[in-house]
Amino acid sequence: MTPWWRDAVFYQVYPRSFADSDGDGVGDLGGVVARLDHLERLGVDAIWLNPVMVSPMADHGYDVADPRDVDPLFGGLAALDELIARAHARRIRVTMDLVPNHTSSQHPWFRAALAAGPGSPERQRYLFRDGAGPAGSAPPNNWVSVFGGPAWTRVTEADGSPGQWYLHLFDAEQPDLNWDNPEVFADLEATLRFWLNRGVDGFRIDVAHGMAKPPDLPDMELDALGVLAAGNDDPRFNHAGVHEIHRGIRAVLDDYPHAVTIGEIWVFDNAEFAKYLRADELHMGFNFRLVRAPFEAARIHDAIANSLAAAALEGAGPTWTLSNHDVDREVTRYGGGRRGLARARAMAMVMLALPGAVFVYNGEELGLPNVELPDEALQDPVWERSGHTERGRDGCRVPMPWEGSAPPFGFSTNPGTWLPIPREWARLTVERQAVDDGSTLNFFRELIRLRRNVFRFDGNHVEWVRHDENVLTFRSGGVLCVLNAGDRTVPLDGGRLLTASSALTGGRLAPDSAAWLV
Ligand code: NOJ
Repeated sequence: MTPWWRDAVFYQVYPRSFADSDGDGVGDLGGVVARLDHLERLGVDAIWLNPVMVSPMADHGYDVADPRDVDPLFGGLAALDELIARAHARRIRVTMDLVPNHTSSQHPWFRAALAAGPGSPERQRYLFRDGAGPAGSAPPNNWVSVFGGPAWTRVTEADGSPGQWYLHLFDAEQPDLNWDNPEVFADLEATLRFWLNRGVDGFRIDVAHGMAKPPDLPDMELDALGVLAAGNDDPRFNHAGVHEIHRGIRAVLDDYPHAVTIGEIWVFDNAEFAKYLRADELHMGFNFRLVRAPFEAARIHDAIANSLAAAALEGAGPTWTLSNHDVDREVTRYGGGRRGLARARAMAMVMLALPGAVFVYNGEELGLPNVELPDEALQDPVWERSGHTERGRDGCRVPMPWEGSAPPFGFSTNPGTWLPIPREWARLTVERQAVDDGSTLNFFRELIRLRRNVFRFDGNHVEWVRHDENVLTFRSGGVLCVLNAGDRTVPLDGGRLLTASSALTGGRLAPDSAAWLV
């Protein structure tokens, strides 16, 4: 039987930004419960929740201090239980982020490691090393953090003397765990079972290619890597030992056959990527080729063909995503304004025509653009760690506009939302778009409805009909998808029109548009 997630539409909820139920200006799980109508109406199969575990929020939840509890900011465990029950009642599954590569520096393990001192078993749960150079005053190697600045921070020992250094590939508040220590997996297993027993339907696994480190942590050529460039074949990731960890995770998941794992895998070599999808590892791997492809027919074709080929190596299902909480929103990436929106809508048609799991990021269905935030509003640790050279990811995390004509647009009762919402979003609210037939929201609803009712996917099969520098045409699930990425209209033939991302003129498809035909 085909598993539920095989061709599912996942909706990514960035909990801080979705809906605030308690008026503190930050979204929470009560807010998600209150807005389940929106997700049901959209027709999604599952939610992917970004991290909601207990966290000091240095990286907005990707710094976990207690992996088996929900942060009070999001409403605590009871709020998650309620969300699971209410979502399930509407046949919406709930998957959540799992962060196994690192913990928060406030995690009891890390605090114990600081207190226990060099050589202690407590330090063996993380990657502590003596410094290099005279008196160990230089970092143990030349690694830089993905967020900018050094990847090592020196601690002060209990007696007040300058001490060892610990590794953090991300923020200093996110110490990397030592996955050679069996205690680390034992704890992850407890975490997996804890959530699965509460009814969670699976996990998106953060930095799934990162847990195993290169032996001896050697100096490496990292100069070409920029901030947030973990995808550029960073040699610190994707080490052989990571697969044993995934086999361990899968052995636990196999006790819960309804549940799925989707790894965040920034690995671009197909054979290497596919290793994560072997039958005893992850169910699916996030694929970032479509996110990275510019709006050019040939590049989009290559991204799709490559993703299909990578998944096919292990007979796994592909995944598709155009945006998430780490990248600029596609409306902006594709040029912004009307043109950026037209292209984003056309690409939504391409993505939703593909076999495999599709991930829609909250606000994508409203056609939200990135926001240029003022310096003082920025919260992403990238801004500080890069010495204010990189603005970070806040611009794609601005809260959702739900209703009304002025911020906070029903997102919160509190005008002081954690990131400011632009006034111009008055025309992008759910309320406003719901009553406009031509809105992006109604467009997404229609696409997801057609995906569910008309498409008949057959494994990973896509038939390429035409692909040149202007036009991409493929048949998938019994539907013909035509993308016009050129600058002239193209005739539409090959069937009856199901829907198009812009009005046709004389049966021709305008530039920056797509259509589905049967
Ligand atoms: C990837 C997550 O998507 C990102 O938001 C986070 O900052 C890093 N992993 C570190 O956990």
